Amino acid sequence: MKFFVDTADVAAISELNDLGFVDGVTTNPSLIMKSGRDILEVTKEICDLIDGPVSAEVTATEADDMIAEGRKLAKIADNIAVKVPLTWAGLKTCKTLTDEGRMVNVTLCFSANQALLAAKAGASFISPFIGRLDDINIDGIDLIADIRTIFDNYGYGTEILAASIRTVNHVSDCARIGADVITAPPEVLKKLASHPLTDAGLASFMADWAKTGQKIL
Ligand code: G3P
Repeated sequence: MKFFVDTADVAAISELNDLGFVDGVTTNPSLIMKSGRDILEVTKEICDLIDGPVSAEVTATEADDMIAEGRKLAKIADNIAVKVPLTWAGLKTCKTLTDEGRMVNVTLCFSANQALLAAKAGASFISPFIGRLDDINIDGIDLIADIRTIFDNYGYGTEILAASIRTVNHVSDCARIGADVITAPPEVLKKLASHPLTDAGLASFMADWAKTGQKIL
């Protein structure tokens, strides 16, 4: 399973990338706002740092404007995946841009039928939002499983990019189901390394080691 980082914070991306944990990056208008940076500048900086796909989202709502924005964003670097919302205009934009050979990530997906339309429109990635479904008491993980089944039934090549990941359990659940990619905030990716028994075990080893009076270096 690939790990994308869901942030426009270049320092946080760089830290995780140094460990080999970054297969790609996703951004959205809220994350750009949070970064306080210019979208074109910060996206270029991220693309220079990361070899894998970097999603940059259009902000227009009409297809013609979305297509124009998508073409402009795609010019930033070869590894840009143009991100479009799962609306009728977004699907039209997806079809147009994928026909031109560009990577497209269709975002704000909340149903299996929406995912099916994105796959038929040629999307490189479909982004179902797990956490936001959980927020309204619908199991977001069930949606990932449904999309996996449907895509496998028909051999769709669109990658399932599980988004709105809020917990470490979301990550392992997605891996169990076979999501192709998860995109998670840096803090969730860092939490994957934590376990209370690891901390307790290390404390006990260190206490016993101190009693030996030995040093390795
Ligand atoms: O990639 C989409 C993701 O950023 C949404 O996450 O936590 O705002 O629902 P969240």
